[in-house]
Amino acid sequence: MTDFLRLAEEIAREAGEMILAKRPTMSAEIETKSSPTDVVTTLDKASEELIRDRILSARPGDRILGEEGGEAPGESDVRWIVDPIDGTVNFLYGLPDWAVSIAVEVEGQVVAGVVNVPARGEVYTAALGQGAWLGHERLRCNTGVPLAQALVATGFGYFKERRAVQGEVVAQVVPRVRDIRRGGSCAIDMCSLAAGRVDAYYERGVNQWDFSAAGLVATESGARLGGLHGRPVSPDFALCAAPGLFEELHDLLAGLNPERDA
Ligand code: IPD
Ligand code: CA
Ligand code: CA
Ligand code: CA
Repeated sequence: MTDFLRLAEEIAREAGEMILAKRPTMSAEIETKSSPTDVVTTLDKASEELIRDRILSARPGDRILGEEGGEAPGESDVRWIVDPIDGTVNFLYGLPDWAVSIAVEVEGQVVAGVVNVPARGEVYTAALGQGAWLGHERLRCNTGVPLAQALVATGFGYFKERRAVQGEVVAQVVPRVRDIRRGGSCAIDMCSLAAGRVDAYYERGVNQWDFSAAGLVATESGARLGGLHGRPVSPDFALCAAPGLFEELHDLLAGLNPERDA
């Protein structure tokens, strides 16, 4: 295991334990962000604060991009990309699918990723070129699944105009696949793909803190990750599946023009 991965895992585990311990008293304190459906709890902020403190005390010069605290400029080649709770709406409702996600990027390339799912006791890890793991189990995504038999995870952003388009797109996808799952955490969706619990994932509007750690878990499990029309994964579009299914789903989605606005 690399030193980056070891440190990221230690910090993601500590944040998860803190959230579980404080959750009974603190999770009800919420504010809204970009829209009434976009919420943040006190524990999202407390988790990010803990993660930032731990990173900076271990590696004072590194840069950090976090969902709640933004990005501070810096000179270092190393950038930590943090989602302190991915799946805040699940967290708010007492559903178990929320995660602490930490990725480490060196010179613009993600080299280590951890997705800790504390309420399920599951920790996904990956290091560039060294595989993806769920605990001690090596992960390999499902291969050879045709689109018509694929279980496809997706998600919906927080803006209602965008959601209207996402609803139209998914209505066209449902009749062409085995089924759809909307799990509520981009990071867990991608890790589920790595673990063979779903076959594919797509979403418009996810951010770097949502997909950086889990994207490495997925690619190290054998999946392809990208955007539409040969572009790299970005907040514009994220698509992930084993080669073969990736191209089939890509062509279906590209034809539905999912990046248009309502
Ligand atoms: C959200 C989750 C959700 C996805 C949204 C994200 P948050 O992150 O990953 O599954 O559909 O686009 O914003 O706000 O819970 O960290
Ligand atoms: Ca959020
Ligand atoms: Ca997120
Ligand atoms: Ca979040």
